[in-house]
Amino acid sequence: MPTQRIIIDTDPGQDDAIAILLAFASPEIEVLGITTVAGNVPLALTTKNALKCCELAGRPDVGVYAGAEAPLSRPLVTAEYVHGASGLDGPDLPEPAMTPRAGHAVDFIVDTLRREPAGTVTLCTLGPLTNIALAFEGAPDIVPRVKRIVAMGGGAFEGGNTTPVAEFNILVDPHAAQAVFHAGVPVTLMPLDVTHKCLTKASRIQKYHDLGTPVGKATAALLEFFERFDERKYGCDGGPLHDPTVIAWLLAPEMFAGRDVNLEVETRSELTMGQTVTDWWHVTDRPRNVHFVRDIDDDAFFDLLFERISRL
Ligand code: RIB
Ligand code: CA
Repeated sequence: MPTQRIIIDTDPGQDDAIAILLAFASPEIEVLGITTVAGNVPLALTTKNALKCCELAGRPDVGVYAGAEAPLSRPLVTAEYVHGASGLDGPDLPEPAMTPRAGHAVDFIVDTLRREPAGTVTLCTLGPLTNIALAFEGAPDIVPRVKRIVAMGGGAFEGGNTTPVAEFNILVDPHAAQAVFHAGVPVTLMPLDVTHKCLTKASRIQKYHDLGTPVGKATAALLEFFERFDERKYGCDGGPLHDPTVIAWLLAPEMFAGRDVNLEVETRSELTMGQTVTDWWHVTDRPRNVHFVRDIDDDAFFDLLFERISRL
């Protein structure tokens, strides 16, 4: 019986794809729908890639809803240099037979939260937070109905990955992030401080090759393409695997550690735009609005990820 009922808001992206596969492979989780946002690549591609993920997992029943094609107020910044022109380079996945559901992603989020019992739906965000901010702005009545937001984004001691101080998801739409992190919904954040401890080492990828399944082959290709940029950048064995930590936290929170902190997003200075200013040592009396995850048992994480994905 699923104990976690979620909406995945995403900008696939190879690591988003792995997170979506993990959610589909886990019986504890019911995916109520997938909403797409512009981020790693433009909206048309993130939406097509989400459809490809559903078909790869054998889940053509799950609705995919296209959302915001640009941030609230800043010009869209994309990351083809990391994810490739398609946003899902690596595996050779067929053009999807599925089509997006009618209706905007924001309307799906609002309608779902109004329909489902209050406090039962978790929003799992893997990209810029534009759709969530628009939903909260347009339908404030849904805010108290959200069980929790589990988001990949930000960084404190680890700095940034797109500017010296800003992580990509937050930088793309810092105004949306600041609004969402201060909406009053419980937030668990998976920042670079934890995702940089989840490295897709060659030994961890080889296990997917050895599965000999279409999903195993695709997962290996996704990971190998995705890690190449960060391996060169950071000079380590493998690259950080960001988005699946969001789903893993729902499945096994005990493998993570963090603390409630005040977190503010820089929205004015161009030098530090998108920085997640994190009061880890509680030196201010600002409200502790985010559960900031900083540590992980990375072996347990990759064991869980492999065990689940090998079921598909
Ligand atoms: O900075 C990493 C995040 O940006 C991940 O969600 C990745 O998919 C990109 O969206
Ligand atoms: Ca993402």
